[in-house]
Amino acid sequence: MSSSVATLDKITALCKRRGFVYQSAEIYGGLNGVYDFGPLGTILKNTIKNAWLAHMTSFAEEVLLLDGSILGGSDVWKASGHLDGFSDPMVDCLVCKKRYRADDIDLEKNCPHCGNKQWTDIRQFNLMFQTQLGAMADGSSIAYLRPETAQAIFINFKNVISTNRVKIPFGIAQIGKAFRNEITPKQFLFRMREFEQMEMEFFCKPDEADKFFEVWIERRKAFFLSLGLTPENVRTRPHASDELAHYAKGCVDVEYNFPFGWKELEGIANRADFDLTQHSKHSGKDLAVFDEATKASYTPYVVECSVGVDRLFLTLLFDAYAEDVVEGETRTVLRFHPRVAPYTAAIMPLSNKLSDQASEIYKKLKAAGIRVQFDESGSIGKRYRRQDEIGTPVCFTFDFESVEDGKVTARNRDTTKQERIAIDQIEGYVRDLMR
Ligand code: GAP
Repeated sequence: MSSSVATLDKITALCKRRGFVYQSAEIYGGLNGVYDFGPLGTILKNTIKNAWLAHMTSFAEEVLLLDGSILGGSDVWKASGHLDGFSDPMVDCLVCKKRYRADDIDLEKNCPHCGNKQWTDIRQFNLMFQTQLGAMADGSSIAYLRPETAQAIFINFKNVISTNRVKIPFGIAQIGKAFRNEITPKQFLFRMREFEQMEMEFFCKPDEADKFFEVWIERRKAFFLSLGLTPENVRTRPHASDELAHYAKGCVDVEYNFPFGWKELEGIANRADFDLTQHSKHSGKDLAVFDEATKASYTPYVVECSVGVDRLFLTLLFDAYAEDVVEGETRTVLRFHPRVAPYTAAIMPLSNKLSDQASEIYKKLKAAGIRVQFDESGSIGKRYRRQDEIGTPVCFTFDFESVEDGKVTARNRDTTKQERIAIDQIEGYVRDLMR
């Protein structure tokens, strides 16, 4: 059955029920737009990040890693354009005081909350969280939580190039938290106030930027498909010229077909020399490089790939979610690609009496680096349903016959078919699934 049965409510409930994601500070009523990741969610997040890092660092040209700070002073955000331009238009209802993003509602209509039609003027609301460094509360101590990770890469460009044997073209990749004071956080992990980004800035000669832009678009599409996303639900959409960000020469969104429409999953942009030029101007430091071939200096162009870990997490859940009927019962199943599933396998002793022998198999697989769960409580049917719902591709049941014939029953998540396989073939069986 297709994943179109997935709704935001079903995904949110499953995430909580199975320990993928919890509302942050839930016992205190929750913090809007902020989430905590439970044990399964943390595994899935790490899998996403590791896949991204492997994808980036396996590129034919060098891609180095960086881990920049979250706090940044006003000078950085002035130069990047965020202090002056990183805002959303907002309006308030004069009667109930509820605040909206102006582009989310029709000001010709009544307030969806209280039904009145008395609006404030539209004002710009800067999305950066402001804080203060140290004890002095004057303007010089103001700092901001970064609204994107990219700027740390630009301001360290010269550091990286002068401390590593690296030449243009090369990339710098970074994973880290970003913060945006979204006026109306919504759609669960889609628009959060605290989230994680995976960004790569690729520095190249100006006349090679168009080529690398195309290369990265293709490469990034291939990355999403390698995680098992359904090809028909992924598309690329070039920005129209009036839609381009102030810094971009060209931009393509990789979009996913969510139940709430085609939405941006990743932005890929040709940022030209905007960022290095801005930081050069504002810091007074020369960020140009010298070209040995032409004996002239130039400011490199940048091709950026930027995706949210959490948004990709949500996308994988939507894509994997399915419901079908097994033995007359509706089951929920996450059809994750085995490379993505939090657990690749589960080991299940049929009876408590078999736990010790079954746990030997479990320990061996775990020691071999396989993500495996030991599941011994409840009926076998219940245990299968539980593993289906967290997306485990295969369950191995150890029964009384296993003691005699050295075999277990392998049960496939998607087909529910069962087959007997030798215990010493389990590891190879699981590794084959991961390919
Ligand atoms: N450096 C470019 C940049 O930050 P962006 O389109 O604002 O561009 C890039 O963000 C990606 O980060 C988005 O495609 C999305 O995946 C993710 N993202 C942005 N805002 C987000 C939010 N409030 N919650 C979750 N993910 C977000």
